[in-house]
Amino acid sequence: MKLEVLLSPELLAARAADFFTAELERKPKLTVLVATGNTPMLTYAELERRVQRQELDCSSLTAVQLDEYLGLPESDPRSLYGWMNRSFLEPLGISKVIRFDPNLEPDPACTQFEAEVARAGGIDLAVLGLGPNGHLGFNEPPSNPQSVTRALELTPESLSSNAAYWGELPVPTHALTAGMNLILAARRVLLLVSGAHKRDVLSRALEGPQTPSLPASYLRDTDLTVLADIEAARGLK
Ligand code: PGA
Repeated sequence: MKLEVLLSPELLAARAADFFTAELERKPKLTVLVATGNTPMLTYAELERRVQRQELDCSSLTAVQLDEYLGLPESDPRSLYGWMNRSFLEPLGISKVIRFDPNLEPDPACTQFEAEVARAGGIDLAVLGLGPNGHLGFNEPPSNPQSVTRALELTPESLSSNAAYWGELPVPTHALTAGMNLILAARRVLLLVSGAHKRDVLSRALEGPQTPSLPASYLRDTDLTVLADIEAARGLK
């Protein structure tokens, strides 16, 4: 595991964009698992600037959706695919996407998703945020490392942290998530952690016991790079 502490969220985003750029230069046909959430947004904006300056070409990359709420029409403003599209796919000019098919029932959508990821040769790079309850995507606690892509009910902690995204709109209670199996098999993982409210969960994820009650603790078994801003890193030993 590599841990880098950055002095601000902006410096964290610049470093994450450098990491991403180096991975893409190494392998233009990179398959990338893409988190939404607030933390990676500055990074995606920095990547967009690099694309606009023609320093970065993401056109051969395949993006893989990390998670999605259940029961929303595609046009719903809370769609996580919509968020990924606005923040990552469109600005970076990416057309190859593996996503949860909104026209399928949850179980077939998950089966198809896993098959498509397998056909793509697995995940090269997982770009992840850290849930305040230690979830990865919507692998809610408890999730063991073998958990596959599936539908599940969100925990009260995730309902409350996700409420910050949608103003007055309620947070859907169920979701689909790429499984722990896919995340932990990623060739490299980039974990982005920002803010004092992540201090406790970050220290437990990196320094506490590995346990299904903190799914992020299993990231230590991967080729993991953690980029944390100083506020998030303050609780580390
Ligand atoms: P955040 O979400 O980036 O908005 O903090 C992270 C998560 O819940 O996985």
